[in-house]
Amino acid sequence: MESRIESASPKFPFLIYKDEDEDGNDNKNKILGYAYASPHNPRAAYDWSANVSIYLDQAAKGRGIGRKLYKCLFQVMRDLGYYNLYAGITMPNAASEGIHKAMGFEHVAIYKKVGFKNGAWRDVLWLTLPLRPHQDTEPTPVKLFQDYLISDQKVFATTDGYLFQYTDMQT
Ligand SMILES: CC(C)(COP(=O)(O)OP(=O)(O)OC[C@H]1O[C@@H](n2cnc3c(N)ncnc32)[C@H](O)[C@@H]1OP(=O)(O)O)[C@@H](O)C(=O)NCCC(=O)NCCS
Repeated sequence: MESRIESASPKFPFLIYKDEDEDGNDNKNKILGYAYASPHNPRAAYDWSANVSIYLDQAAKGRGIGRKLYKCLFQVMRDLGYYNLYAGITMPNAASEGIHKAMGFEHVAIYKKVGFKNGAWRDVLWLTLPLRPHQDTEPTPVKLFQDYLISDQKVFATTDGYLFQYTDMQT
């Protein structure tokens, strides 16, 4: 989990969730999960589209943390000016398909046998979430996440009071 956080780009949000564990132990420094965005395609035409992904520690699953992390990530992405989010899910993955559909993602396509993982060729289900209506004029350039944070604040709160943090990321 830590290595993926360290390799994240400061251009995109990488939100981590820290909380007490489910037994109520003081566990504030343990990362229970993260959600992040990454480029959908490096060519300029795709500047307003991004991929998203989410991962929770086994003990943190099924407690609504995924929904909270994603809600926060999508709000940040909307604020940055993005239009389209995409999620690629290696099938089968009922939990991942479930959370993306619960968050409003719609079916795009299934790429058949597009990747080789754990000894077999895998299908990947692609889903999309539009963040705002598409207009015919050229959209405003997206903002970088590093510029979004006010005075280099690294912790911010969502409307329902949950704290998210983004880590010091390498350029
Ligand atoms: C997918 C994942 C992030 C879900 O996070 P979570 O915190 O357990 O999800 P939440 O408790 O917030 O649930 C949100 C919604 O997801 C769906 N969901 C969650 N777990 C599910 C499961 N096991 N099966 C089907 N749907 C599920 C439900 O629709 C749920 O909505 P509800 O609470 O109204 O029923 C988590 O299971 C995980 O980290 N899995 C391993 C990593 C992974 O596959 N990441 C996706 C890579 S694309």
